[in-house]
Amino acid sequence: MTKSLIIGTGSSLPDKIITNDDLAKIVDTNDEWISVRTGIKSRRVTNAQESTSDLAIAAAVKALEAANIRANSLDLIIVATSSPDYLNFPSTACIVQEKLGAKCAAFDLSAACSGFVYALTVGSQFIDSGMYKNVLVIGADALTKFLNWEDRNTCVLFGDGAGAVVLQRNDKSDDGILSSYLAADGSGADILINPGGGARNPINEDIIKRKENYIQMDGKSVFRFSIKVIVEGIEKVLEKANLLKKDIDFLIPHQANIRIIDHAVAKLGLSPSQVYVNIQDYGNTSAATIPIALDEAVRKGKLKKEMIVVTIGFGAGLTWGSNVIRWGY
Ligand code: ACO
Repeated sequence: MTKSLIIGTGSSLPDKIITNDDLAKIVDTNDEWISVRTGIKSRRVTNAQESTSDLAIAAAVKALEAANIRANSLDLIIVATSSPDYLNFPSTACIVQEKLGAKCAAFDLSAACSGFVYALTVGSQFIDSGMYKNVLVIGADALTKFLNWEDRNTCVLFGDGAGAVVLQRNDKSDDGILSSYLAADGSGADILINPGGGARNPINEDIIKRKENYIQMDGKSVFRFSIKVIVEGIEKVLEKANLLKKDIDFLIPHQANIRIIDHAVAKLGLSPSQVYVNIQDYGNTSAATIPIALDEAVRKGKLKKEMIVVTIGFGAGLTWGSNVIRWGY
């Protein structure tokens, strides 16, 4: 049976580093609070000249190089992002397509921090259906552009970055994406929201005065939601693949809070060496956390052929989702 196989990964982060001590100079916070409550020590932040597509393109170039294929062999580019270069259009995926020199279909997908899992699932459906052979899936976000740097509830959590994978049709082996699970609950839309700037509340002086053009979050509610779905999502996707918790070789979770990851690791009975964690260095890069972690795990030699690798994403929407992958190289 046809499988969608990841044949190359890449990632990209801005150079600028903001530490917890740097943040303590601009809001009422400190390194101890942020480290203990979130696991974050520093984050990478785009400068005024950098945008989401720049990070996405740099990650994509590395993924194409690792996959040893040219951009003109791509059939489709999907960019998962909730911080596109432009609010309405063109899509960030079209900007990426032009800069890479690709001639394929391209679109953005919006599912916040679950975006990469959603995009990987959508990309794999195009391959499984026989429509496409090579699909570039990117998770890229520059959410620091949408932070209120006076709000300590949110500004300490996020960072910028991008990760990419090349998916290819595999008719030769059982390696590839074995199952995917996607979920959403719009009743929680208001607990993590950027209320201003869209069609509901178009940007104007009042919106800016009330700082409604920035991300707002009810952290406790998001935390409660995340704790629940990180385990539920993994159980569902394992069930779809006819696998058990003990079959997981390696977990690539969304990096939102180390306490959420630790909870999942304990519930699933995994050892710390079976989970990839880089939240201390990058914070929450939204749709980019999973593909960045995947790329780092690959480059550090942590993933071996035929390992069962599980992803889990969760975030605004509310959305969540997961994939089971039998690693192919
Ligand atoms: N520095 C210092 N003190 C702070 C800070 C800060 N940065 N932020 C809040 N506090 C204070 C609060 O005001 C509160 O003070 P009080 O007790 O005097 O009222 C105290 O610290 C405790 O605050 P809580 O909100 O109860 O802290 P909690 O342990 O819940 O941690 C956190 C907060 C880290 C935000 C947590 O709720 C969390 O991680 N939630 C999930 C967030 C998340 O994952 N968001 C992204 C989702 S993904 C996406 O789609 C974008």
